[in-house]
Amino acid sequence: MFLSPVDVAMLVRQRGIRRVLREMTEAIEEDFRRWSEFDKSPRVANHSPDGVIELMPVSDAKRYAFKYVNGHPKNGLRNLPTVMAFGVLADVDTGMPLLLSEMTLTTALRTAATSAMAARALARKNSKTMAIIGNGAQSEFQALAFAEIMGIDTFRLFDTDVAATHKLIANLRAMGLTAVACESVREAVRGADIITTVTADKTNATIITPDMLEPGMHINGVGGDCPGKTEIHSEVLRAAKVFVEYEPQTRIEGDLQQMPTEFAVTELWNVLNGNATGRASNEDITFFDSVGFAIEDYSALRYLYEEATCDGNVGELPLMPLLADSKNLFGLLRPANADRELIRACDSANPPAERATQVVRNQLVALHA
Ligand SMILES: NC(=O)c1ccc[n+]([C@@H]2O[C@H](COP(=O)([O-])OP(=O)(O)OC[C@H]3O[C@@H](n4cnc5c(N)ncnc54)[C@H](O)[C@@H]3O)[C@@H](O)[C@H]2O)c1
Repeated sequence: MFLSPVDVAMLVRQRGIRRVLREMTEAIEEDFRRWSEFDKSPRVANHSPDGVIELMPVSDAKRYAFKYVNGHPKNGLRNLPTVMAFGVLADVDTGMPLLLSEMTLTTALRTAATSAMAARALARKNSKTMAIIGNGAQSEFQALAFAEIMGIDTFRLFDTDVAATHKLIANLRAMGLTAVACESVREAVRGADIITTVTADKTNATIITPDMLEPGMHINGVGGDCPGKTEIHSEVLRAAKVFVEYEPQTRIEGDLQQMPTEFAVTELWNVLNGNATGRASNEDITFFDSVGFAIEDYSALRYLYEEATCDGNVGELPLMPLLADSKNLFGLLRPANADRELIRACDSANPPAERATQVVRNQLVALHA
């Protein structure tokens, strides 16, 4: 199965983005709750002066998934997205890929769903106001997920690029949500129940400083996700209870990279499963140091695969050779008479040959053309 960005956009439009965000949140939580069933590793990152390209694999007994994703904060200057991605879901028993999908849109959805899942476990239940610092490609998805899962009804926005804030306000207004532009980070976060930082800059920034903290705040730090790329002052981490996706990866990539190895953190799956405490009081400051973990992409891909299968009428990409004789791979280079016989047999079959045989037949016809 192949899903292009247009295919995924259509799937989301047909269902409504709020429903998709809700269902994806549940899919991710379901998979986080069975954490020990996954074969996990920190992602493999190849760094360059302006960015990073990462591969994110994970598997359980049934499915394998990986995502290719980049992070290039200067891409906007070339009108390219900062983050672009695609991914594969495969069958563990045979290694056969089941789905090749776009994941640029899907990453924005799954990141927002993960943020909302974390906030549902960690933030104060009566949270109503969220500050969003960084109003780029991810920001609408974050706002909508928090509106849907947490009931956030007031958004306070700041970006160094005023045009990005105006874009976010217009997009949220079209979705029936109200947001106000602020003059500074300080103004945006004052009185906020939840702060989301989702900026892109390859630097050790200190966007949130300890003097901005108020009792009970929950911080959802999304943009500090790469060595040398952080958003939160280290004293904010010291003042907070810190929660992570997968500790070995976050120690390298998260805002946590600033802290000594003995600095204590809690993996979120433990809170979701009731093994660890999240927020202990309304005064606690909680910090979700999000970097993006492969299980979230696994959940998103399996969700897309299930939904697209239900819809039927999905695109296919013949990525693997389907052979008449599995041992005769060389036959692809040297078409044999046997191929013509198979084509004839397939065309004259009554009842018609099964779909897999027809795919083989079509490949052979193309080879003999
Ligand atoms: N944790 C995850 O799972 C995850 C997933 C996807 C993206 N991300 C990260 O989220 C960040 C945002 O991604 P995006 O696709 O929205 O990027 P984007 O380039 O579309 O938007 C980033 C915005 O941040 C603004 N910005 C930069 N520095 C700022 C600052 N100091 N103060 C305020 N605003 C500032 C920019 O002007 C821009 O509008 C990136 O760093 C990306 O790597 C993380």
